[in-house]
Amino acid sequence: MADPTARIEELRRLLRYHGHRYHVLDAPEISDAEYDARYRELEALEEAHPDLVTPDSPTRRVGAPASGLFAPITHRERMFSLDNAETPEQVEAWEARLERALGRPPSGFSCELKIDGLAVSLTYEGGRLTRAATRGDGITGEDVTANVRTVLGVPLVLLGDDVPSVMEVRGEIYMPLDAFEALNAAQAEAGERLFVNPRNAAAGAVRQKDPSVTATRRLAVWVYQMGHVEGGPAFDSHTGAMAWLRDHGLPVNPEGERVADTAGVLAYLDRARESRHDLAYQTDGVVVKVDELADQRELGFTAKSPRWAIAYKFPPEEQTTRLVGIEVNIGRTGAATPYAVMEPVFVGGATVTNATLHNQDEIARKDLRIGDTVVVRRAGDVIPEVVGPVPSLRTGDEVVWSMPATCPFCGNPITRAEGEAVARCTGGFDCPGRLREYLAHFGGRSGMDIEGLGAKTVDLLLSEGLIRDPSGIFTLQPGDLLGFEGWGEVSVGNLMAAIDAARGRPLGRLLTALGIPLVGGTVARTLARRFLSMDRLLDATEEELAAIDGIGPEIAASVRAWSADPDNRALVERLAAAGVRTADPEPEGVDRGLLEGVTLVVTGTLEGYSREAAKTAVEDRGGKVAGSVSGKTTAVVVGASPGSKAARAGDLGVTILDEAAFTRLLEEGPAALPDP
Ligand code: IVH
Repeated sequence: MADPTARIEELRRLLRYHGHRYHVLDAPEISDAEYDARYRELEALEEAHPDLVTPDSPTRRVGAPASGLFAPITHRERMFSLDNAETPEQVEAWEARLERALGRPPSGFSCELKIDGLAVSLTYEGGRLTRAATRGDGITGEDVTANVRTVLGVPLVLLGDDVPSVMEVRGEIYMPLDAFEALNAAQAEAGERLFVNPRNAAAGAVRQKDPSVTATRRLAVWVYQMGHVEGGPAFDSHTGAMAWLRDHGLPVNPEGERVADTAGVLAYLDRARESRHDLAYQTDGVVVKVDELADQRELGFTAKSPRWAIAYKFPPEEQTTRLVGIEVNIGRTGAATPYAVMEPVFVGGATVTNATLHNQDEIARKDLRIGDTVVVRRAGDVIPEVVGPVPSLRTGDEVVWSMPATCPFCGNPITRAEGEAVARCTGGFDCPGRLREYLAHFGGRSGMDIEGLGAKTVDLLLSEGLIRDPSGIFTLQPGDLLGFEGWGEVSVGNLMAAIDAARGRPLGRLLTALGIPLVGGTVARTLARRFLSMDRLLDATEEELAAIDGIGPEIAASVRAWSADPDNRALVERLAAAGVRTADPEPEGVDRGLLEGVTLVVTGTLEGYSREAAKTAVEDRGGKVAGSVSGKTTAVVVGASPGSKAARAGDLGVTILDEAAFTRLLEEGPAALPDP
């Protein structure tokens, strides 16, 4: 057999090249399958020729001798930490200090994202990775070489020949968000504890005893600082050194920028703060460094940190606080939802005291106990979330929670159906907790839209016993409210008028307001158009319901179950008795099956129809109006200033109708459509 040395060398070179394109440049040139085929070829050759195996072969990432795992390693150059700035003003003050120290402003700054992971120092000797160490106390760290070799973005061999004899580079090992989510999904599946954030997950992975476990954790790295260098190129600037590292195969974060002055730094801080959630990894701030190495030397170090760099920390989105209790809320459907009561904590720009805990299983899965110190997260405008407990801070006095047997609002039993995540209060409208939520929805914007029936009014009505179920709204008398604080002739008159107006709302609104599970506005309107009255809907069978376009089997079952409940039927009767409209008029002079099977898309402005009116006209005739053009579209109605849908219709060869042709279609049905 021919000498395999050349082929082995060739394969290693190819795999390094394509690995770099994939993991560092994010610009692969070959498919995963092609890469895998070469990888397997190399593996096979190495297996047949063990004498030709070298430790820097791409096949040797896992399986390096682990004898030195976690042994102390002294950094050749100390790993400093950074001074922090909490606000942009503090960054400006730092820059003013630099200017005083130098007698002039620095000639440029490097602005970089502060990556939220675990700091490592990588040592390359003769271009080969020989050591990876954690920061430790900055002077001595731990040897994590065997684990860090499994991180695919860390080159085992530098690209190019002009490499220093010894080079330390510093960077951050992190876990990309998608890898973090996949890991936690797998942990949940296996019934294992979840990681509270990507940083902890990354730190845990780097400190694994078994490097083959680390290899499964999909870690990545960004390098951001040169350490000790011997016998290599001389650099003038930090950004110059970073460009060199990038050229030699090390991943340098592409969001970094050199800016000229303070204004540039402040603008970068703003941009970074705003775009931090658009990234595939977590950042917790910005690191600003004086770019010129001569300036850095002049500025020097304090005992702890370089004077030439500062870390601006974003306002925190995660904090710890104490879980002082778990309470239960009853929703409008009767669902009992536990929520956390916490010591107030400022996080993500707001003070948080409560957060939903969803259901009992979720609490058990997170192993939350009353008295725990918990991690609370609120990113941007996102609803606050209890991420998990900090078990190491437990005292033993924490209390495991379980769903109360009876409702805290009405004392009726709380039950949980077999196989369901949700527990429910069985009190129906006798439960003031449930009734409160129900009324807020019933009278709200998407329901009966009763102006003036806000949360405060609902609370007053309930606490004074003025209403006992939703129909009670419509039997309220002015005298019931007059005299309560804030309720005079005018405000009472306004509320009565609003209630009166709500009495006459179309059936679709009443159906939405009733809060039938799975029935939102669109489904409610479809049901109203098909049945035209509450009576007919209550008598509809599941088959009849499921046969309606836009109503799937689940909705049909849910509507039927709701109709079958005597409490709901009684409510509808009481509403009707209180004068609430429960039927829509038969549309006059309209053939209700005229446009059966016709799907239209409307784009642009029509002169004689609003969007809503055009939609209703089509739907009254049994047709459908869709939001986008597809193969199923019968025709596109094009008004003035049409959008891209008109062009798409043209592309797909779908019939186009002007307003006149649309009117003819409404009058005459599909016969009026032009021949395709
Ligand atoms: S430079 C002498 N740059 O933040 C300068 N650090 O206290 C050393 N970090 O320990 C650090 N992103 O773990 C630098 N672009 C970045 C960084 C960064 C994250 C971490 C690093 C360091 C801590 C600062």
